[in-house]
Amino acid sequence: MQSEFWLHCWQQQRTGFHQYEIHPLLPVVISQLSWDQSKAVFAPLSGKSLDLWWLARYGKVIGAELSELACQQFYQQQNQSFSVSAQDDFQYFSHQSVDIWQGDYFALKPEQVADIGLIYDRAALIALPAQMRIDYVQQLKALCPGPVSLVLLSLEYPEHEMSGPPFSVTEQEVRQLFDFASSIELLAMRNLTGRLFAQRQFNVSKLVEKAFWIQW
Ligand SMILES: C[S@@+](CC[C@H](N)C(=O)[O-])C[C@H]1O[C@@H](n2cnc3c(N)ncnc32)[C@H](O)[C@@H]1O
Repeated sequence: MQSEFWLHCWQQQRTGFHQYEIHPLLPVVISQLSWDQSKAVFAPLSGKSLDLWWLARYGKVIGAELSELACQQFYQQQNQSFSVSAQDDFQYFSHQSVDIWQGDYFALKPEQVADIGLIYDRAALIALPAQMRIDYVQQLKALCPGPVSLVLLSLEYPEHEMSGPPFSVTEQEVRQLFDFASSIELLAMRNLTGRLFAQRQFNVSKLVEKAFWIQW
């Protein structure tokens, strides 16, 4: 997916991936894991997800999002004040509990997201086609060398029945992508067949969401 695709989505308000409620698996999954809560939470490809506000109860949250519009809406829709500064190729949106690097995730440097204890991926990996998923994971590892925990919400459907995004990412692929991890645990599953995925209904014969806890 090229950057232009996502920027157009935001400009044209084609944001059916956005959820108007906290992801139902998030509290369930978080209650099952442990991580170093003195460190920050990182949310790559964060959109304007309300989950970031929920995660802020655990400390500082740092998002990374391409679209300036998404970042502005993220704060404005919650009536939160924020400041913006230019830093290298990014704009840094700053707030007392949630900050966002606005720009290209693939251009982020490790020092920009230092000291991360937990990574939260909802609709980030599955937003990307296969080759970009490999690059995404390599960049995640470079940005967060560990020790770190990742909560990954993935999605599976018969690949030939729909072209993404969201892309189908099987459990097998998750295990291959994160083959450097010290542990990969499947914590929860939701059968979404015939049901909505955020605001969208997909015409697929099977749709399953899986929550993984990955540590490295
Ligand atoms: C499917 S949406 C998911 C957003 C959010 N995680 C959520 O759950 O609502 C994917 C997001 O990734 C952003 N994005 C895509 N490519 C990006 C990149 N290279 N750097 C930063 N953000 C990117 C898009 O603008 C979009 O908001």
